[in-house]
Amino acid sequence: MVKIHLITIIVLKLSASEVINLLPALPSDYPVTSENATEFLKERNFTTQEFANVLTAAVNSVAWIPRIIAKTLGYMPTLVNSNDGGRVEQFVKKFRESMYNEDAKLSIEELLNKYNYACEVHNVVTEDEYVLTIHRIPSERAPVFLMHGLLGSSDDFILAGVESALAYKLADLGYDVWMGNARGNKHSRKHAAYDPTDERFWDFSWHEIGVYDLPAMIDYVLNVTEKSSVKYIGYSQGTTSFFVMLSERPEYNDKVSVMVALSPVAYIARAKSPVIRLMSPGTNMLSQFSFRTSLGVHEFLPDHSLVRILKLMICGTGSIGDVLCSNAAFLTSGYDFYQLNVTNLPVVMGHIPSGASIKQLAHYGQGIVSNDFRKYDYGEEENILRYGVAIPPSYALENILVPIAMFYSDSDWLAHPSDVKRLYKRLNSVIDLYRIPYKRFNHIDFIIAKNVTYFVYNRVCRILALN
Ligand SMILES: *[C@@H]1O[C@H](CO)[C@@H](O)[C@H](O)[C@H]1NC(C)=O
Ligand SMILES: *[C@@H]1O[C@H](CO)[C@@H](O)[C@H](O)[C@H]1NC(C)=O
Ligand SMILES: *[C@@H]1O[C@H](CO)[C@@H](O)[C@H](O)[C@H]1NC(C)=O
Ligand SMILES: *[C@@H]1O[C@H](CO)[C@@H](O)[C@H](O)[C@H]1NC(C)=O
Ligand SMILES: *[C@@H]1O[C@H](CO)[C@@H](O)[C@H](O)[C@H]1NC(C)=O
Repeated sequence: MVKIHLITIIVLKLSASEVINLLPALPSDYPVTSENATEFLKERNFTTQEFANVLTAAVNSVAWIPRIIAKTLGYMPTLVNSNDGGRVEQFVKKFRESMYNEDAKLSIEELLNKYNYACEVHNVVTEDEYVLTIHRIPSERAPVFLMHGLLGSSDDFILAGVESALAYKLADLGYDVWMGNARGNKHSRKHAAYDPTDERFWDFSWHEIGVYDLPAMIDYVLNVTEKSSVKYIGYSQGTTSFFVMLSERPEYNDKVSVMVALSPVAYIARAKSPVIRLMSPGTNMLSQFSFRTSLGVHEFLPDHSLVRILKLMICGTGSIGDVLCSNAAFLTSGYDFYQLNVTNLPVVMGHIPSGASIKQLAHYGQGIVSNDFRKYDYGEEENILRYGVAIPPSYALENILVPIAMFYSDSDWLAHPSDVKRLYKRLNSVIDLYRIPYKRFNHIDFIIAKNVTYFVYNRVCRILALN
């Protein structure tokens, strides 16, 4: 009923061409034919025949979409509970007050300088000629390599601010901190032959990040530091690409002494992330929502219509939606209202999302349908050409020998506890499986939660010290 009202109000305000943006908000039992739709609306007390007809016509012109989407989306998480009323207003007020925090506009290099940490910038060229940037807080001691998540960058590890962020903490402990950047994010938008405006530049998913980017960066770090191995900390996609690397190039087992997996993502069938679910096969989102090209090979720049749909579904309307849900990173990974440092939020918004290719999201989306951790599905014909088989091969997780510490949480939109446990059972070298003892902890909290040091990083540091 609430949803129908919402639709009514908005339909009245929008032109017919924009009606498409509202469709996923329809109830799943919304009828397909015009007559039935009119009945449906009349039963719900939209008594003006004329109005019901207008609405029905508009909605039915694209009625094939909501069923598919509804089926794929299944359970839709929401971010803001209406009972949070007073809190939400407080929150928005505090956000507006802290909007002019200058850190929001500073680059990672400027932030490190501001807080008196040394910063080096290194460039690495991959085998397939992408030019990647690594940020380093140098030290003579053991190198720790940090790899960011989906839609993130090296900025992920300083976002929480000097008091909480992982990079600062590791530097304070004396580690040599290296923060990688995958191809396509804002620090790694260079290729020897292709410009980011060229769609060939964007023809990669996290498979290529694991097979080319991580090995190139790890080799580079080992070469510069003259050490024999790094300690690796991956967050989200930084774990996915790590698992890909060792499955495909097991010789890298010798170059990593320990891996910390923050919110590990490999199996993803249970993920709640609406963006990832919308990217799964069958939803047609890839061609429907004009990501500048219908090929599905391009930069992920969520357009207004997609953001609007998700805002309606996840955040409702009003000021909280405007603040949080206009950010694609929050729409993808969610957040935990109670662990959010509002004062720091402008800084977070100033640094993420950092860019990714559509194929990265689509590859995750495929995992929702296939219920497997496997290579990119190009369709039968091309799969046979590339892989020699019609169904893409699964990643060889049994090749992974590096000791792994896994951290996961109950409310994670990407790494669902059941998916994490399934991965845990497939890995032979897990030394620690840790569930964050706080029910609401969500995906992005692994890098920005108020209490992230207490819940996550203290344990991470103990594990690094022992391995
Ligand atoms: C649709 O309407 C027709 C006639 O009005 C009715 O016979 C049919 O049962 C309705 N179908 C559904 C799914 O409600
Ligand atoms: C529709 O209106 C009637 C009479 O005003 C009321 O009894 C009924 O509960 C309403 N139905 C809904 C779904 O609100
Ligand atoms: C390793 O470093 C040396 C110089 O320190 C450089 O000449 C060489 O190309 C580097 N090798 C790799 C694989 O980066
Ligand atoms: C919250 O954010 C502010 C502003 O960036 C920062 O000064 C403070 O240290 C943060 N709190 C925690 C617990 O990290
Ligand atoms: C989070 O940290 C604050 C301040 O450090 C503390 O007061 C609070 O109890 C912590 N919350 C939880 C859930 O541990």
